[in-house]
Order: sequence, then C-alpha cells, then structure tokens
Amino acid sequence: MTRKLIVADDVATVAAEHVVDRQPRTLALAGGSTPRALYEHLADCNLPWADMEIFFTDERCVPPDDRNSNFRMANEALLSKVAVNVHRMPGERCDAGEYETEMRNVLGATPVFDLVLLGLGADGHTASLFPGDVALEEDRRWVVAVRRPDHKRLTLTLAILSTARTAIFLVTGATKRDALRRLLAGEDIPAARVHAGEVLIIADKAAAQGTSG
Ligand code: 6PG
Repeated sequence: MTRKLIVADDVATVAAEHVVDRQPRTLALAGGSTPRALYEHLADCNLPWADMEIFFTDERCVPPDDRNSNFRMANEALLSKVAVNVHRMPGERCDAGEYETEMRNVLGATPVFDLVLLGLGADGHTASLFPGDVALEEDRRWVVAVRRPDHKRLTLTLAILSTARTAIFLVTGATKRDALRRLLAGEDIPAARVHAGEVLIIADKAAAQGTSG
C-alpha cells in the first residue's frame, strides 16, 4: 500500500476532483471541521447521487442537530442539498450494533467502500480511533463506541476502513504538521493503520511544510 501526498493551496477543490474522478457508489464521510469546505464543494459536483450510499466514519454521541454532530455539519454543507441515500450514525442512541446492522444490510457480509474520507488529528488519530485505545485492536466488529473526554463516540474500526479502495485524508494547518510527517513515515499512529488499496493525503502548505511532498 502506498501513501501519496498531494500538497494544494485549495485542499477542498483538489479533494473534490479526486472524489469525482472515482465516482464512488459507497462513500464514508469524515467528521471534524476540515471536510466542511470539501462537502460544500461536492454539492455542486457531478456525482452519481441516486446510486450512492453514504455512511459516516464516526460520530459524536449527541443528537443530529447538536453543534458537535458530524452529521449536522455534513448535512448543512452537502446532504441537505442533494438527493442521496444517507446512513446516519445514531449518535443520539450511541448504538454501535445498530449501525453495524444497517451497514450489513446495505453492504453485505464482505463490505467494500469505494471511498472513505478521513481527517487527521494532531495526535495521529483518525475517525474516532485514538492512540492507545482498545478500539484499535478490534478485528471483529465494524463499529464500536469509544469514550473520550469531550464526547462518547461511535467509530468505524480499522478493519472496515481498510476495505476501502481509496482513502483520502484531508489535512490542513500547521498543527497537523507532525502528525502528517508521522503518517507519511508510516509510524505507528492510528491514521497509518488504515490500509486502503490507495491512500491519498491532500494537505495544504501549512501542514506539509518540511515534508518532501
Ligand atoms: C471527529 C473526526 C476526527 C477529525 C480529526 C480532525 O469526529 O472529530 O472524525 O477524526 O477528522 O479530529 O479534525 P479537524 O478536521 O476538525 O481538524
């Protein structure tokens, strides 16, 4: 598996181009703040919306209208603007098994995501898979709940994220510089354990400063 770094002034536009190139039918959306600009851009892009199944890589265990909800962010930026099948993680119930059942009903017993979008935390986390968390070792379940100081969360596990044909990491800002360096070096951080078929890392200059990208 190779990791390709693409340094861009406008991460959202470049990432949107890569999403459109792949015309994904199954897509998992990242949370956090970085993807908002990409989602806003995708709302105007030519994607097979009617044939797509959209999932989430993780969700805070809050109601869908909570300002901390990843669904709320994606819905405001994209999902409310396009007619697409959305499989929202039930943050309000924080029920990992419920979401796994829904995934199995749609993806079948041997899931393959055409594309997963991921962020990168300054500590090297991705989705809600944090350094040292037991969730990193989960090799049977597709979705698990994790406890964090800010919110309990639901997250896809590494096994399911790694089924992706393509994983695109969106990385912006100087605070991510060290995590990006570690990801590119393949150091043992959660983000480096996503072994998708293809891994693209689209980063801005602030994050990529000092890397040979
Ligand atoms: C979340 C995300 C998380 C995020 C990173 C980066 O629910 O917070 O899944 O993994 O992608 O923390 O967050 P920013 O994009 O806000 O920097």
